[in-house]
Amino acid sequence: MDPRPIGVFDSGLGGLTAVRELAARMPEERIIYFGDTGRVPYGSRSRETIIKYARQDVAFLRSFDLKSLVIACGTVSSAAIGLLRREQDLPIFGVVEPTAHRAVALTRNNRIGLIATHATIASGAYERVIRARDPEAQIFAAACPLFVPLVENGRTRPGDVVIETVVRDYLTPIRDAGVDVLVLGCTHYPLLREVIGRFMGPQVALVDSGAEVAHEVGRWLSEHDALAAPGQVGGCRWYVSDSTAGFRDLAAVFLGRPVAEPVEQIDIERY
Ligand code: DGL
Repeated sequence: MDPRPIGVFDSGLGGLTAVRELAARMPEERIIYFGDTGRVPYGSRSRETIIKYARQDVAFLRSFDLKSLVIACGTVSSAAIGLLRREQDLPIFGVVEPTAHRAVALTRNNRIGLIATHATIASGAYERVIRARDPEAQIFAAACPLFVPLVENGRTRPGDVVIETVVRDYLTPIRDAGVDVLVLGCTHYPLLREVIGRFMGPQVALVDSGAEVAHEVGRWLSEHDALAAPGQVGGCRWYVSDSTAGFRDLAAVFLGRPVAEPVEQIDIERY
């Protein structure tokens, strides 16, 4: 048993979809979340900048005594997980490996769709993990840079003409390629699950990276006898790099519950 908290970070609020899954699976765990809301988005930045930001995010979270670290961001997981693992002496989980493995397990026709930020697609990280497990897999990938701002502005509902139009524009080539699995390779995208699912059709399985990493963390903690003791009171502490005004409202949408805990702003440039 290990009572220490799990650190989770993202470029902003998308990582809260992973926190939602972690809390649902392991309600006794304590979670410390950092969202780099002052510097989001990462997905359109260079690898060098993403690495610099990721190192600062990790340095801040390491000011707490953590038992593990979750990179709840597709972009950082794609660009920096190998480097962060070499630099840090604690278990680090990213979204790419468990999500790619689930996609391979689910596909029946070896045609896998992938949507994510520009940086994630450009890194080739998903392709590498998928092909290592299934060399026959064909991957149909698209960067969807408009999804993040649309999600953050609440344009997520089926019937919303703006999101429906953007979904059609980005996803038509992937749907026409006949994929039977679509990887939601960015932690904002689970909020678009309904509208994407309707567009792709029931024959296409959607793989949610937040849910997959939560599953992986739970499995690892259990195998290493590092879960919180039954009966420990779990909960979250929230840190952001921009003003805390408005955090609660938007975070509640990602988390699927009201945010009652305190939220603190930190100066990430100090780390
Ligand atoms: N959190 C990022 C990801 O999952 C999306 C937002 C951004 O571009 O920073 O890739």
